[in-house]
Amino acid sequence: MADNRPDIHKPNEEPEGYRFTADQMLDQLPKDASISNKVYIVTGSHSGIGEETARSLSSHGAKVILATRNQKSAQAAMDRIKSKHPKANLQWLYLDLSDLDTVKTFVADFRKTGLPLNGLICNAGIMASPYSKTKQGFESQFGTNHMGHFLLIKLLLDDLIKSGPGSRVVVVSSAGHRFSGIKFDDLDFSDGKVYEPFEAYGQSKTANILCAKAFNEKYSDKGVEFFSLHPGLIRTNLDNSMSPDARNTSIARIASGPVQASFYKAAIAVESFLKPVFGNFIAPKFMKTVGQGAATQVWAATSPDLNGKGGAYLDDCHISTPKTEEAQDATGENARRLYDLSIKLVAQYL
Ligand SMILES: NC(=O)c1ccc[n+]([C@@H]2O[C@H](COP(=O)([O-])OP(=O)(O)OC[C@H]3O[C@@H](n4cnc5c(N)ncnc54)[C@H](OP(=O)(O)O)[C@@H]3O)[C@@H](O)[C@H]2O)c1
Repeated sequence: MADNRPDIHKPNEEPEGYRFTADQMLDQLPKDASISNKVYIVTGSHSGIGEETARSLSSHGAKVILATRNQKSAQAAMDRIKSKHPKANLQWLYLDLSDLDTVKTFVADFRKTGLPLNGLICNAGIMASPYSKTKQGFESQFGTNHMGHFLLIKLLLDDLIKSGPGSRVVVVSSAGHRFSGIKFDDLDFSDGKVYEPFEAYGQSKTANILCAKAFNEKYSDKGVEFFSLHPGLIRTNLDNSMSPDARNTSIARIASGPVQASFYKAAIAVESFLKPVFGNFIAPKFMKTVGQGAATQVWAATSPDLNGKGGAYLDDCHISTPKTEEAQDATGENARRLYDLSIKLVAQYL
């Protein structure tokens, strides 16, 4: 398929977003950027866009490590992928991002494989969950979506640098970063007393953007580039982690305006009841398939179009701009502040 995307620096002007799939992005790679025999770690890869990312990368010749916390689900995902691509080179390693001890063990287990590492895709996430804490006492969304990935990136830096130049780290954020900046003085919402599930999701997704930016500032000259992105709106298991209250308000919050929210709501209702007739026509106007949802992260992990563009926030296979000033972080101060704070919080694991 011809690449008829406009300049990657220009904002996407198509109202429904680009409809490239992960496979199409990989099919367009020039020969000298082939991912054959490259090694990628994908977190949260036994479902949703993470599984699709693992499927697409492995179907194009890469070895993929599925980093997940549930061996049975990971095996089921690997079986699904292998049923389509019998030669897919896949391996599962245990990782629970809500427990920093397992992040350390994961890295040790990865090193035992003796494999190089060309790319790390920090895809796993939870959204708008009821208040709880991770094993080390962080608010769960911040702890899982940001702190677990922060430590994982930090511990794998040497491996990525060794495989460079050209190594990539991709941190999957969300347009939901607009729900909140970083509450530097109250990361855990006063121990849950002033907790709002989507605000906490927003904080963790702003952290994903600043995390990629801070690491890029520090390490891009060592041959590793870091990106963050919004994958689009995709029907996955993500809302399984949501609190019941958050579920009721989610549609209006996720959609970017009241008109889109009502169409989106109607699309979901219609899809449930009259799926064969309307669902295939209405929902696709607002939502992506998992193949389309995985496209931007696969592009970020592999495309030479992005050489030298590290630190950028991506959307719809384009270089984009975060929606809040705090995440745009013109001076880089927020990114550096979050990096320094995160280093302090994981110090005993380094
Ligand atoms: N779907 C969308 O519309 C959308 C929009 C914007 C951004 N995103 C982002 O896209 C990413 C992927 O989400 P998805 O939509 O594909 O949802 P999904 O199917 O629920 O995938 C999320 C994955 O993260 C894993 N995960 C959660 N907590 C974990 C932990 N503590 N340790 C290890 N893995 C953990 C889940 O595994 P378990 O089954 O073990 O929980 C699951 O495999 C997320 O970062 C999400 O914020 C999605």
